[in-house]
Amino acid sequence: MIMLTVRNLNHRDIEAAADLQRRVYRNIPAFGRDQFASLLEHFPAGQFAAEDDGRLVGIALSLVILWDDYSLHHTWASVTNDGLFDTHNMAGRTLYGAEVCVDPAARGKGVGHGLYEARRKLCRAMNLKRIIAGGRLPEYHKVATRMAPEEYAKRVIWGDLYDPVLRFQLDQGFDYCGILHGYLPNDIDSVGNAALIVWLNRDYDPHGPTRMPPANLFEEKTP
Ligand SMILES: CC(C)(COP(=O)(O)OP(=O)(O)OC[C@H]1O[C@@H](n2cnc3c(N)ncnc32)[C@H](O)[C@@H]1OP(=O)(O)O)[C@@H](O)C(=O)NCCC(=O)NCCS
Repeated sequence: MIMLTVRNLNHRDIEAAADLQRRVYRNIPAFGRDQFASLLEHFPAGQFAAEDDGRLVGIALSLVILWDDYSLHHTWASVTNDGLFDTHNMAGRTLYGAEVCVDPAARGKGVGHGLYEARRKLCRAMNLKRIIAGGRLPEYHKVATRMAPEEYAKRVIWGDLYDPVLRFQLDQGFDYCGILHGYLPNDIDSVGNAALIVWLNRDYDPHGPTRMPPANLFEEKTP
């Protein structure tokens, strides 16, 4: 049983958030304090923390980007400017998922769903057109000598292979748009590859402006 709260991330969460990333990834370095601070400076409304009874169990970090600047052949480094996150641009209409992770001990209990629901809520509240991300393929390395990542993704989509990230993202209503080669070179589990995924905001009004989300969209718990 989980007591899930999703709220905006704040500076007091930084140490626990980096510690969480260290527990989740075997070869991808955790963000430095300066990287979390940059995200909180540029776009505090886009950074989420999931808590289970007061304990940080997940994070989801996002930017707004001008998608046409990147399009098909982007990498994590190009879209985040090597993790500086100063590519955040409120003239864009695309919410970009730069990171999501859940404590291994808290998986399969809806924490990832709660974080993705928060992103969808933010996307609608801001009148953004879509959410885009490069999704990891953490089980791909097990079959990489036998098939290309494109074939792997198709087999996950039609249900003969299981990947905990791509399957989760498809179940969250994202469409698969192809493979990004060399997206995150130090992601050895995905052999550097990622799935380009997109969720369209059906409520998007192309004639309306981007709105700043109301301050109470995600009530922050007091410490
Ligand atoms: C991808 C990730 C964020 C998903 O987080 P999660 O908290 O396990 O996600 P959820 O619990 O919402 O959903 C996961 C599964 O649990 C199931 N589930 C959801 N709520 C549930 C509940 N209350 N009880 C039981 N199962 C549940 C879902 O059906 C889902 O199954 P499926 O993916 O086979 O359809 C997590 O696996 C993770 O952190 N991976 C490593 C980091 C990473 O690679 N991140 C992606 C970067 S692109």
